[in-house]
Amino acid sequence: MTDCQEANSPMELYEKLTAQGDKVRALKTDKAEKAEVVAAVQMLLKLKVDYKQTTGQDYKAGCPPSETAAAVTDNGPAADGDGGEDNVDPWNVSTTNAKGVDYDKLIVRFGSSKVEKELVDRIEKVSGQKPHRFLRRGIFFSHRDMHQVLDAYEKHKSFYLYTGRGPSSEAMHVGHLIPFIFTKWLQDVFDIPLVIQLTDDEKYLWKDLSLEDCHRFAVENAKDIIACGFDVNKTFIFSDLDYMGASPDFYRNVVKIQKHVTFNQVKGIFGFTDSDCIGKISFPAIQAAPSFSSSFPQIFGGRKDIQCLIPCAIDQDPYFRMTRDVAPRIGYPKPALLHSTFFPALQGAQTKMSASDANTSIFLTDTPKQIKSKINKHAFSGGKDTVEEHRKYGGNADVDVSFMYLTFFLEDDEQLEKIRQVSV
Ligand code: TRP
Repeated sequence: MTDCQEANSPMELYEKLTAQGDKVRALKTDKAEKAEVVAAVQMLLKLKVDYKQTTGQDYKAGCPPSETAAAVTDNGPAADGDGGEDNVDPWNVSTTNAKGVDYDKLIVRFGSSKVEKELVDRIEKVSGQKPHRFLRRGIFFSHRDMHQVLDAYEKHKSFYLYTGRGPSSEAMHVGHLIPFIFTKWLQDVFDIPLVIQLTDDEKYLWKDLSLEDCHRFAVENAKDIIACGFDVNKTFIFSDLDYMGASPDFYRNVVKIQKHVTFNQVKGIFGFTDSDCIGKISFPAIQAAPSFSSSFPQIFGGRKDIQCLIPCAIDQDPYFRMTRDVAPRIGYPKPALLHSTFFPALQGAQTKMSASDANTSIFLTDTPKQIKSKINKHAFSGGKDTVEEHRKYGGNADVDVSFMYLTFFLEDDEQLEKIRQVSV
């Protein structure tokens, strides 16, 4: 990226371009010197190239960049004022900061909204339940349109939940459970339907795995997901490889979405290149389709206006920025979102727990003994190098992985605070 692009948001670039276009026209009308006109035109062309690189779209006078376009610059690694670099997209999460990704900056880059205390209080009021610890502790830290969902719910207009998992291996780790644990809570307190998409097709397209393996992983993972205890009468869990071919309504929505998103747009959002297979390029439409109630006539009786709320980790947001961008163009409500932070790897919050690296992860199949040994051996400690130093200065709970895990799993706020105090 050039300096020029880093300094400009899509909207700023759009405004510069519009101003430059006006300048060129004025110079021509005033019959200015040829060299001056040529320089102005060259500047205009350069801005057009920058605009296209940044937004994935061609500049059109009178058409400001859309929500999808604004998302485009957000995917590249962002320079961090603290000297750290955060890289967050559906396939990679890393930062140089031991405390983890700077989530406040991510909210600004992605253009979402912070889950403020006021929203947490409102969820408590509307649901009549104590907010889940993931809300109390800022683990679900960002959202899109949550207030609108609550406004509608207060007026007795219900909504449904959608979340998912890419089954890339037989074993799931504890980090994978975060969205499911939270979704189970949302289903309980709002008493609403839930759809869970298992993207075995996505994993086949992205990884070096056979179709049969991906489908088998979907079935295996479904068992772990079901064990979270969802309402059996209100939950539909499906493999893409099975459901796409079986549901005409689902496939119709996929095609509608495909017609309304260009290659340039997905290139900008997901960083696809000309040598990526066409399966990858069209896949985002398949992850978008469950956001629309008409994809599930067996649940919603053919209604297409029921709003969807998607709890997911923030790295999935690019899919849903795209979805929100197309929704009004195909006559559907935009899905709302609740985004979570990442579950840190044992080695530290610089990256998230990853199933492909056994040493970074605690698997659901690990025995208590194995878990204990992994934590003792690998969990990054916020403690000081020697007992003396530790006594003198205390530890640093902000970078201590064991403590971070407690913030996800220990329910008791007082006990958590006591542990934090002891460690510092
Ligand atoms: N792409 C996700 C993954 O690789 C799976 C997924 C599909 C998903 N639909 C979703 C995740 C909706 C969250 C919400 O894990």
